[in-house]
Amino acid sequence: MYKIAVIPGDGTGPEVVREGLKVLEALGNANLKFAFTHYDLGGERYLKTGEALPDSVLDELRRFDAIYLGAIGHPDVKPGILEKGLLLRLRFELDLYINLRPVKLYPGVETPLKDKRPEDIDFVVVRENTEGQYAGAGGIIRKGTPHEIAIQESVCTRMGVERCLRYAFEYARERNRGRKVTLCGKTNVLTYVFDLWERVFHEIGERDYPDITRDYAHVDATVMWMVKNPEWFDVIVTENMFGDIITDLGAMIQGGMGIAAGGNINPEGVSMFEPIGGSAPKYTGQNVVNPLAAISAAAMMLETLGEKESAERIEKSIVTVCQKHLKSMAAGQMGYSTSEVGDLVVKYL
Ligand code: IPM
Ligand code: MN
Repeated sequence: MYKIAVIPGDGTGPEVVREGLKVLEALGNANLKFAFTHYDLGGERYLKTGEALPDSVLDELRRFDAIYLGAIGHPDVKPGILEKGLLLRLRFELDLYINLRPVKLYPGVETPLKDKRPEDIDFVVVRENTEGQYAGAGGIIRKGTPHEIAIQESVCTRMGVERCLRYAFEYARERNRGRKVTLCGKTNVLTYVFDLWERVFHEIGERDYPDITRDYAHVDATVMWMVKNPEWFDVIVTENMFGDIITDLGAMIQGGMGIAAGGNINPEGVSMFEPIGGSAPKYTGQNVVNPLAAISAAAMMLETLGEKESAERIEKSIVTVCQKHLKSMAAGQMGYSTSEVGDLVVKYL
């Protein structure tokens, strides 16, 4: 029995999470049972109570096997409050130090990249998820005056860099596709933090992962190759902010936000899974957004829990739905409603 905390969150989050839960329930396996506990965290609760994530709730969340998240972001809440107070706080407090974002083009899904097929777009981004500019180091002085100074520094620790790199190497080994890890950095300008990243990359790579090919690309070149030659990538590892940026491009080349899922992972603790698309306020309540990203996040959750077979069943079913049914991955253009797409995934399980 897996204890899962469910945070549907804001906007279209609840609509897509509903479909993910529907699919999990439908797996119908006597050996695989879930106990779901819902939490009403998000913009509405913040507007009512002024709290984004009370300490008591955070402590409860530590006791689950996994967390399933819809989306965070509310049009009436100033940008930064829910992001920092809820999403980033969960990442930091639960030490979800890996943000795992597969970029995979499923058969039947359209990519904006001309002449690229599913076998060309199949890589994984391992994004460091607790450090870099996200650590919040810096500040503003003399605010609002002509002498104002704003500083936002990138924090990279040996420990944080090493555990992220190790995860990437291990992942490439386990995945066994190209057995290659590409470090995405900016060694020509960010000469302090990427000096650290690059040194640790080669040091542990040479010693502990001699079977894995090491490759390096600057972040600006990485986005160029992602468009021109995505087939070159197997596992890309990078720091937090670069990972944030390149994975939105990744989502686009795999068919859009409607299909892109991610995991915020603490390999030694409780992990959190989410569609990476956000709360999409303009579609809220219309039953038109694509739930496949959320369903795919549920599959990632199962995989991380060690339920590989069930995860594969869901993934296969998603592929069938893409191939046989959906006209597009975009909200309102699928040819089906959100709940109908969930029903289709259940049908092919
Ligand atoms: C993401 C999001 C978040 C991030 C925001 C909402 C804080 O863009 O998960 O990629 O920047 O990490
Ligand atoms: Mn992002």
